[in-house]
Amino acid sequence: MIATGLSARVTRQSGRDNSTEKAAAASPARQLLGQAQSGRSVIQDFVPLAESLEWELGQQYLKERGNKAFISDASPVPFVVNNDGTLSRNAAEVLYAGLESGAQGAERGARDEIFVLELGIGVGLFARFFLDHFRELCRKGGKDYYDRLCYVAGDKSERMLTDVARHGILANHAGHYRLRLVDAMEPGKLLPDDVAFQSGRNRRTPFQAVFLNYLLDCLPASVLEINGDSAQQLFVRTCVARNVSLADFTDLSVEQLQERAKTAGPGARRELLEVYGLFASEYDYRPVDYKTVPYGEFALQYARRGDSKRLLLSYGPMQSLEKLLDLVADDGFILINDYGQTQATREDEFEHQRFSLATFVGLNFPLLKAYFGEGDKYQWVEPTAEGEGIHSRLLGKDLAPAVRERFEACFNKAAQEKLQEPLVKARQCAKVGRFEMAANYYNEALERQPGNWVLLNEISMFLTFSLRDPKAGINMAKLALELNPTLSSDLWCTLGDGLFEFGRYAEARAAYLRALEINESDVRARFNLAFVHGREKNYPAALEVIAKALALDKTGEYRERLLQKQGEILGLLAQRHQQEYLRMINLVSKYAQTDNSPQRHRDTEKKENEK
Ligand SMILES: C[S@@+](CC[C@H](N)C(=O)[O-])C[C@H]1O[C@@H](n2cnc3c(N)ncnc32)[C@H](O)[C@@H]1O
Repeated sequence: MIATGLSARVTRQSGRDNSTEKAAAASPARQLLGQAQSGRSVIQDFVPLAESLEWELGQQYLKERGNKAFISDASPVPFVVNNDGTLSRNAAEVLYAGLESGAQGAERGARDEIFVLELGIGVGLFARFFLDHFRELCRKGGKDYYDRLCYVAGDKSERMLTDVARHGILANHAGHYRLRLVDAMEPGKLLPDDVAFQSGRNRRTPFQAVFLNYLLDCLPASVLEINGDSAQQLFVRTCVARNVSLADFTDLSVEQLQERAKTAGPGARRELLEVYGLFASEYDYRPVDYKTVPYGEFALQYARRGDSKRLLLSYGPMQSLEKLLDLVADDGFILINDYGQTQATREDEFEHQRFSLATFVGLNFPLLKAYFGEGDKYQWVEPTAEGEGIHSRLLGKDLAPAVRERFEACFNKAAQEKLQEPLVKARQCAKVGRFEMAANYYNEALERQPGNWVLLNEISMFLTFSLRDPKAGINMAKLALELNPTLSSDLWCTLGDGLFEFGRYAEARAAYLRALEINESDVRARFNLAFVHGREKNYPAALEVIAKALALDKTGEYRERLLQKQGEILGLLAQRHQQEYLRMINLVSKYAQTDNSPQRHRDTEKKENEK
């Protein structure tokens, strides 16, 4: 299954009401609980969330793991929602509308380069589809914007950038992009001096657009509890999880791990990452001088306006956006796509998620709106209505009406629903066996989302398994793979399924093996490989691949099917052994009737030796 959003939310481990010392002064029951909790080995004592091991190691993980965090982990960071082509098309439309309106570019000469920046590029498909679509818009409109466009793809993780280059994601836009190491907390540190972004008149050219997709949720935040003029802040303590015997997993002792936690170097962080899964976090609110918290004064004023007591302070996103606005043209814009709370609530919950080992905190959108949208300096635009999940916002200094209009047209709820409508209907029809009707709706869906490889993948499976037309399924999967050849093991599995159903077993095997090259922990690819091995009567190979799949199937999604296939293969293997045994007996009894049987030879030899 392709993950389609931030779905696998990790339940927040509920914060303890207070520390062990407080519990000790409380009832016997709470004392008992406190003692039980204090029995855990502490690796790092209470610190603010953004300084905690949980946060730091989560950041380190994304940095080190590169695109494998999205495509090869057992519980990967979801990326499909921003990388299926739809968001890229919408973003390209907004930029194009701005350039067309003539308002954008007032600071530029008509022949100057147009710079745009994406921060936190992940697998890089958003950039690729943005450039594809923008080129197409310019071709249709007869404009030279694409020729003048330079797309700066930035990330804090060098590995992420090299993975994009290694996979050739932007290869068909040579000359129109640059990969750059950029920290979203300090975007102005290197970019302005980068010679690549100086215009002909030797001055820095501002960015016409900045794209931030699931980037701001990676930046630090704090949670404050405000009472009058005093504030408490969420602190995190990292312990070895209950019932974990460290020695079973690492040679490092608790003391050594504590030492590593105090050391900031990458070596120590790497060692801690290896055992990070064994840690558990405890939460507690501790008194803090709000003036020492970034944007603390603003948080206090903001909290006073409503009656909210607990507040998620998205200070990393605030700092990043403020600094990015300095790099954006006056008529340029920042397009944000992220998750988080959109209503101010009395008890702001902090949406804290973990995928693999990376940690994210959803944004406090009302707070960001209050900070950026209320003065005269900036403009903050929301769609008039929006759905659940991902939220889009436009931010700028002097947004052109055409930019606002295009943003509304592309990102409001009705537009999003219209896009999905035929797909929803196609699924409903397919579910109840109305396949011809489903095919018609899929056709409409393709018209509305032509370059969506996730949709092509779904239609390929529909063609192969529902319409029983594997040849068409194969061709559809190949179209999807043209758009995304290296970042989805699922797509290769779908191609393999079509090939298998068509009887092209060797090619099916190659497709499944290609899926495993992309994602070595892919269970579906192994399950399907078992069918190929079974069909080729290579039963030991089938059993091997099933055993590995069972070990990797952490969610148990394939468990029943794997066990069933295993039973079937074992049955076939037992039959084969029985046939071999019977053949052997036949052979022996045949030999027994002739003078040439091996037994006879041995008997003769024995007698001669005895003589
Ligand atoms: C959750 S991923 C989102 C990737 C992609 N935009 C998407 O929507 O699929 C966050 C990305 O931001 C990068 N990142 C995290 N912190 C960053 C920072 N401070 N500055 C720049 N990039 C950062 C990560 O390396 C990763 O590529």
